[in-house]
Amino acid sequence: PLIGPLQTCESRIYREKAEYANVNWDELGFALTKTDYMYVMNITEEEQKFFNGTLTRFGNIEMCPSSGILNYGQGLFEGLKAYRKEDEGILLFRPQENALRMKIGADRMCMPSPTVDQFIDAVKKTVLANKRWVPPYGRGSLYVRPLLMGTGRNLGVKPSSDYTFLVYASPVGNYHKGDLNLMVEDNVRRAIPGGTGGIKAVTNYSPVYKPLTEAKAKGFSDLLFLDASTGSNIEEGSACNIFILKGNVISTPTTHGTILPGITRKSIMEIASDFGYQVEERAIPIKEVFDAEEIFCTGTAMVVKSVASITYQGKRIEYKLGAETLAQKLHATLTGIQTGLIEDKLGWTMLI
Ligand code: COI
Repeated sequence: PLIGPLQTCESRIYREKAEYANVNWDELGFALTKTDYMYVMNITEEEQKFFNGTLTRFGNIEMCPSSGILNYGQGLFEGLKAYRKEDEGILLFRPQENALRMKIGADRMCMPSPTVDQFIDAVKKTVLANKRWVPPYGRGSLYVRPLLMGTGRNLGVKPSSDYTFLVYASPVGNYHKGDLNLMVEDNVRRAIPGGTGGIKAVTNYSPVYKPLTEAKAKGFSDLLFLDASTGSNIEEGSACNIFILKGNVISTPTTHGTILPGITRKSIMEIASDFGYQVEERAIPIKEVFDAEEIFCTGTAMVVKSVASITYQGKRIEYKLGAETLAQKLHATLTGIQTGLIEDKLGWTMLI
């Protein structure tokens, strides 16, 4: 198998005690805690390339009121995490994947993007400058948020002249506290074929606020979106991918441009097939959720979380939760690799 066993204590190297910021780590949810530094790199029309990025104190930024990001939403973001190991070293999880996804998104949004090396260097510098904010082992992670945005002065509808790549970070805990009760959104669609649902465009997220707020007011934790073409296949949540389990088969919707190709999604597919499951990417009709044995969501922010219930057109179905679920086993393995507790045979982590 590609996934190794838990390492024994003896095989871990202990280092000097790390210094920590004054945070109540156990109270962290998914909200901004201001950290010390952010990384900023600009590109202007004359320069054509990103260079000379610098760390600056975390704080507000200035831009022209007619910038592309403010007027036309020309922007992308990424999300990745830095984890504290038991020996207090810091690991990044698959940062190359985020860098490559940003390049693909930048191409779709007509933006220049940092190179993979520039992206990783910026992430490393941001994490190391804020290392006292990386939670202690097992008590959260440092969420890193790279942004790429059009910051030139453009009034007309056209690509911006100037761009800014900015990386900031915040310690985080669980994305959702409590059980995950999903409501199938039968009216608003998250993405359309040919649109931008398959990249991390900033404009993919706020259009779901209205149905999400309404669903939360009814006691649901999140929405499950259906495809725009037929309205009969499941796609994803507002900030996560979805998987269903039936027998030895794990299925997740195919990423054909309307679904975000999640890095956690990809990692879970690899771990599950290493566990011996048959993993399928395919169209999943909504009716299949009614006879699934287990359903779970994945995402950088979400990690892996069992779905407690799904409600569709007034019909509610509940799923098994807890220690015996596959989701729990996948979660333990993924976070074991992310925190260095499980040997990383696949080269997914980067010690910084
Ligand atoms: C992530 O999981 O990193 C995401 O980008 C989802 C986010 C909108 C919280």
